[in-house]
Amino acid sequence: MTAPKILVLVGGISEGSLNEKLFNAIKVKHANDFSFEDFDIKSLPFFSQDLEADPPATVKALREKIKKADGILFITPEYNRSFPGVLKNAIDWGSRPYGQNSWDKKIAGVIGASVGNIGTFGAQHHLRQVLSYLNMHTMHQPELYLNASKAFDQDGNLSDSMVEEIIAKYMGAFKAWVTQNSFKN
Ligand SMILES: Cc1cc2nc3c(=O)[nH]c(=O)nc-3n(C[C@H](O)[C@H](O)[C@H](O)COP(=O)(O)O)c2cc1C
Repeated sequence: MTAPKILVLVGGISEGSLNEKLFNAIKVKHANDFSFEDFDIKSLPFFSQDLEADPPATVKALREKIKKADGILFITPEYNRSFPGVLKNAIDWGSRPYGQNSWDKKIAGVIGASVGNIGTFGAQHHLRQVLSYLNMHTMHQPELYLNASKAFDQDGNLSDSMVEEIIAKYMGAFKAWVTQNSFKN
């Protein structure tokens, strides 16, 4: 099989986002294993039911990318023990209009980086609850909770070999999860 196409949604939109750095580290190490697509979630308007039937082009582009992806990887920060609203906004757009849930039966992975000791545990489990409702097939194990306060150097490169190993283990399992599952659209 050719490299699976993975749509990556990064929930951190700030300059120097740790989660964006985590995505960059994954791209550097796993460029041959996957074909990565990204999507700028901050380009989306706030979700409104008034717009869902004839949404702006950026929403249509998100739906198209979800449709074409073999798998979706969510990389989320933790905000107040949950995942950021900007990521929920993107998920809500993809879920509508009613009866046209773009996430349905899509294969997913969830990882995340924060500066706290529980490394996005709270965020990931709130996110998993939402993905479950949307009928996504989210990989259960291994998990990847990253306290990234010391994981990257000044240039934003991964500087911790143990973290590199954990990421490699996760991405290996995720590749198998995406390629072996037969319940995708
Ligand atoms: C509104 C807000 C709430 C936060 N809540 C948490 C939290 O619950 N747990 C945690 O570990 N870090 C928390 N943080 C710190 C984030 O982990 C840190 O800002 C991280 O760098 C965000 O990810 P990013 O760099 O990818 O944007 C919070 C930060 C903000 C701005």
